[in-house]
Amino acid sequence: MPGKLFPLGGPVSEQDVVDREEFLSSLQIRLSEGHSIMLAGPRRTGKTSLAYEVLRRMKKQGFYTASIDLFRLSNKREFAISMINSCLENRTGIRKTFDAMKDRAKTIAGMARLTVKLEDLEFSLKFLDETNDDTLLDYALDLPEVLAKHDRKPMVVLLDEFQDALRITDVNIYKKMRSYFQNHQEVSYLFLGSKEGMMNILFSNRQEAFYRFATILPIPPISEKSWMGYITKKFAERKIKVSTEIIKEILKNTGGHPHDTMLVCSETYYALLEAEKNVVTHGLFRLGYDRALQTLVQVFDEVLDELSQRFQVRHILKRIAAGENVYDKKLNPNETKRVIDFLVSKIIIEKTGRGSYRFVEPMFQEYILREFS
Ligand SMILES: Nc1ncnc2c1ncn2[C@@H]1O[C@H](COP(=O)(O)OP(=O)(O)O)[C@@H](O)[C@H]1O
Ligand SMILES: [Mg+2]
Repeated sequence: MPGKLFPLGGPVSEQDVVDREEFLSSLQIRLSEGHSIMLAGPRRTGKTSLAYEVLRRMKKQGFYTASIDLFRLSNKREFAISMINSCLENRTGIRKTFDAMKDRAKTIAGMARLTVKLEDLEFSLKFLDETNDDTLLDYALDLPEVLAKHDRKPMVVLLDEFQDALRITDVNIYKKMRSYFQNHQEVSYLFLGSKEGMMNILFSNRQEAFYRFATILPIPPISEKSWMGYITKKFAERKIKVSTEIIKEILKNTGGHPHDTMLVCSETYYALLEAEKNVVTHGLFRLGYDRALQTLVQVFDEVLDELSQRFQVRHILKRIAAGENVYDKKLNPNETKRVIDFLVSKIIIEKTGRGSYRFVEPMFQEYILREFS
């Protein structure tokens, strides 16, 4: 069976990374030079996809790589083990060295082989089993540098959904991490986070542990030209024709948003299969778009729910969505301004001129229009 035509629901593979070529090489160069970087942006905008691609490239370049997704972890010990596993994979070629040691403990030969590979790192099954969580975390946080030095390999470590460290441990975790990372000479760090507010505070407030530790870079959008090429090529792989006009229409409706564009293309593709057609028509695209929007309702409900903790958020979103003046005479203008600043900081809307704003994600706008008017 062929794979999904348009990848969804997670980081994309090498062939499906659309565009951002300049940004990718800029990331690669900076990280190779030992600079650490922080990228913050809403979910579904392609952060993890970008980071994985950079890591793949750096691996080819001879770097050791490790990636830890803090979203998936629930306590200190899991964090430590994930870090250890990800570091050791470079040596053992096994994704979960810790579990493998347990399995291999049953066969003395298998165990011996692994032990030999890791001996110089003072890493053993006994160590993992008997060490308390704090000591284990200390070991894990220093391991990238220890490993890089031992093996004379520069290393890059990705910490995804970095703001979640706070959820799985406590406030002191950042200080602890920084105290290790800042002494690492052979390791550069790539931090990603989907809570922009928190990430920006962590990396740019003087009082915070990661102040000035990493360069903060904005993530560029995917250009229309690149989407054009990609979408045409993808449909052509299944012998489907799609005109420039239709692709332009797709992009107008998705704003080129990474996940939304993939989703609309994917739903349009399935609409085509059902209709047994091989040309993307306006009608089939509309069908695909509507289905895509339906699947997004759940996601958008959650986004809106989070935003609605602020008073008047919905009211103002509705006004912007409908193209009305944001300043409602019935509301206090200072109040409105605060809500607008909040929505801009959450990258939900962006300013287009004096007193005028637009949605960053057109499908979110459409959702507001359809569900709340
Ligand atoms: N560079 C890209 N090219 C094409 N599609 C992308 C790209 N980045 C992201 N996507 C689409 O967006 C989805 C979410 O990407 P992901 O990297 O998981 O985002 P994030 O980490 O910001 O939540 C992917 O499954 C894919 O459909
Ligand atoms: Mg991600």
